[in-house]
Amino acid sequence: MSNVSSISQFLLLPFADTRQLQLLHFWLFLGIYLAALLGNGLIITTIAWHHHLHTPMYFFLLNLSVLDLGSISTTVPKAMANSLWDNSCISYKGCVAQLFVFLFLISAEYYVLTIMAYDRYVAICQPLHYGTLLGTRACAHMAAAAWASGFLNALLHTANAFSVPLCQGNAVGQFFCEVPHILKLSCSEANYLRKAGLTVVSACLAFGCFVFIVVSYVGIFRAVMRIPSQQGRHKAFSTCLPHLTVVSLFLSTGFFANLKPPSISSPSLDLVVSVLYSVVPPAVNPLIYSLRNQELKDALRKLMNLSLSEAIKCLFSSVQHL
Ligand SMILES: *[C@@H]1O[C@H](CO)[C@@H](O)[C@H](O)[C@H]1NC(C)=O
Repeated sequence: MSNVSSISQFLLLPFADTRQLQLLHFWLFLGIYLAALLGNGLIITTIAWHHHLHTPMYFFLLNLSVLDLGSISTTVPKAMANSLWDNSCISYKGCVAQLFVFLFLISAEYYVLTIMAYDRYVAICQPLHYGTLLGTRACAHMAAAAWASGFLNALLHTANAFSVPLCQGNAVGQFFCEVPHILKLSCSEANYLRKAGLTVVSACLAFGCFVFIVVSYVGIFRAVMRIPSQQGRHKAFSTCLPHLTVVSLFLSTGFFANLKPPSISSPSLDLVVSVLYSVVPPAVNPLIYSLRNQELKDALRKLMNLSLSEAIKCLFSSVQHL
């Protein structure tokens, strides 16, 4: 029996046990991580650079990219380092920090996605009120509310998870520190009610957001169906498609990971599922947006051309100097 004060580090679930597989995992995660950095970095630069993209939808997309960058950076580099150095430890403080930051960013991301559904709903169903409902101040308030609620949510869960004594060893059944896996290490059912209470509150909030997103999209579908011309329908709907895809990816992986029946649970399946919802969305979101959104695609192309021509000019002048 060990108690909380004697745990100085946790053991994370390793991806592989042979050296080759560890290196394979390292390179795979490095590729995914670089793709996420590049994709989200490009989206952030493009939106910051182009003034005609300074609209609520793109500001929220900017928020999403920043959150994606942050959330993938809390889990993947540590997993890569552990694979590379054949290690599975994380310090107690590191684990607390990882759990807190990941939960903060991922819940804020969910709230931002909810706000983005509202943005699309107003743009399509109440276009005349768009300017007043989604003015600069209103948007800043909503974004601040999303970040603050994510922060509060993470703070409560982190405090709760680490305030109960842990005595089931220090092996976390996941490749990063996460609330359910820390709770599994707690000693008794004594704190069960308090834990359950917090989970219920969060689950209700998450469900509320889910209902809000669904209701917004029902409204959007009905409004789009009423547009007489096929071209108009297509045009209206195409502005929602990237968001709808990103939300579906986020929710389906999240639901599957948290609500799948325990009977189909095995360590390797759990590992794959956790990669699906913690690593894949931040890497794939920029791809979905940049492929599906014509405006962003054009802006991205312009940015590329600009930097390419700058690079060529630079090259020429340095050649001339030689
Ligand atoms: C998030 O969105 C808000 C509202 O549009 C914007 O004011 C803010 O600058 C954005 N923040 C980041 C970090 O992207």
